Amino acid sequence: MLKAVILIGGPQKGTRFRPLSLDTPKPLFPIAGIPLIQHHVEACAKLEACKEILIIGAYTTNTMAQFVTDMQKEYHVIIRYLQEFTPLGTGGGLYHFRDQVRAGNPSAFFLLNGDVCADFPLKELWHFHEERNNALVTIMGTEATRQQSVHYGCMVREPSTKSVTHYVEKPNSYVSTLINCGVYMCSLQVFQTMAESFQRKQDVFYSGNGQASPDSGYMSFEQDVLMQLAGTNKLYAMQITNWWSQVKTAGSAIYANRHYLELHRDRVSQEAPCTILPDVFVHPTANVDNTAVIGPNVSIGAGVTIKAGVRIKESIVLNNATINDHALVMYSVVGQEASVGEWSRVEGTPSDPDPNKPFAKMDNTPLFNTDGRLNPSITILGAGVVVPAETILLNSIVLPHKHLTRSFKHEIIL
Ligand code: GTP
Repeated sequence: MLKAVILIGGPQKGTRFRPLSLDTPKPLFPIAGIPLIQHHVEACAKLEACKEILIIGAYTTNTMAQFVTDMQKEYHVIIRYLQEFTPLGTGGGLYHFRDQVRAGNPSAFFLLNGDVCADFPLKELWHFHEERNNALVTIMGTEATRQQSVHYGCMVREPSTKSVTHYVEKPNSYVSTLINCGVYMCSLQVFQTMAESFQRKQDVFYSGNGQASPDSGYMSFEQDVLMQLAGTNKLYAMQITNWWSQVKTAGSAIYANRHYLELHRDRVSQEAPCTILPDVFVHPTANVDNTAVIGPNVSIGAGVTIKAGVRIKESIVLNNATINDHALVMYSVVGQEASVGEWSRVEGTPSDPDPNKPFAKMDNTPLFNTDGRLNPSITILGAGVVVPAETILLNSIVLPHKHLTRSFKHEIIL
């Protein structure tokens, strides 16, 4: 029997995802028509051996209740949400709830960062892990460019056994182009290593030199587990070559949307009441005029209204938004219940990985550059925003419930 743990952080995390996370917690933001972490749930539920999925985070149980209920209905697997009393880091929550993970004595468990996107080759990861008797943790790894690798956990492997001999989290200088994808398979004995790390931290704290942080139970899986296990023949890495990315900034949602749509062609809309340029997901309750042209890479949420002559590409339109006649929406996210006026143009700039660099990942550029100017990125309309008719909105971010009265370029409208 196997289990899975999905780490989703809390309201304090995901700040780079604002304003998209102001209305919807990042783990529940819809990508290709379903919440971000439903892709994880789906991948785990596909494995018959996986009997329980534990979602660990610092969001309130109320925030997660509906999602958990929906998932229980849709997938035949036990799904529970466990709330941390305070954000405990990527290892602290897992350690705190260790008895819940160990209950029923699973042979191993998957550990998935809630903000990564991939086709999650969990079966391969499980077999890879099982083939190595002494493995406590197997990391799913992928190749990055030399320049970008330093923004991730970097590892060096022993070529024949694939055991990780060296692991550094976000190194200051180049270590390796093999990076940690934030997807792991762990044996239950990993809790022994975590107990030792926990004890070490307590010893430092109680040695009373005033330097240590208070005893909060905070633990980093990367620093306190992976770095400890490197070089002990208990840590392994399985390298993948398929698509993998993270959802950190709002711009990365559009990139992930494109790939998840491609991956789930079975779910995307083949037939829609208008011209579709694949891949497109249109929720069955959306009301779309037959003269609209949608795609490629568009997700349309529940209750959305799309009127005559509208053109939408590379965008996500959230529930109950309205796109009025002949408006154009490109590289943008239109928030829930927002409305785009007739003949208006809402356009952003894609922030895709450099297609000319092999293994390039997305640059999660900050909102502002060093001159204090907004970096070009996708355009975001917060929930309930109203864009009047015949207006242009370019590379801008509009906070929720603003009623615009004119055009804007490269601005944050507060
Ligand atoms: P950044 O570039 O700083 O975002 O680093 P990172 O990619 O290593 O991400 P980070 O370590 O912050 O988070 C990895 C995953 O763990 C994400 O899915 C987070 O939501 C999740 N996570 C981070 N901190 C916590 C925490 O305190 N509790 C829980 N349950 N999950 C967390």
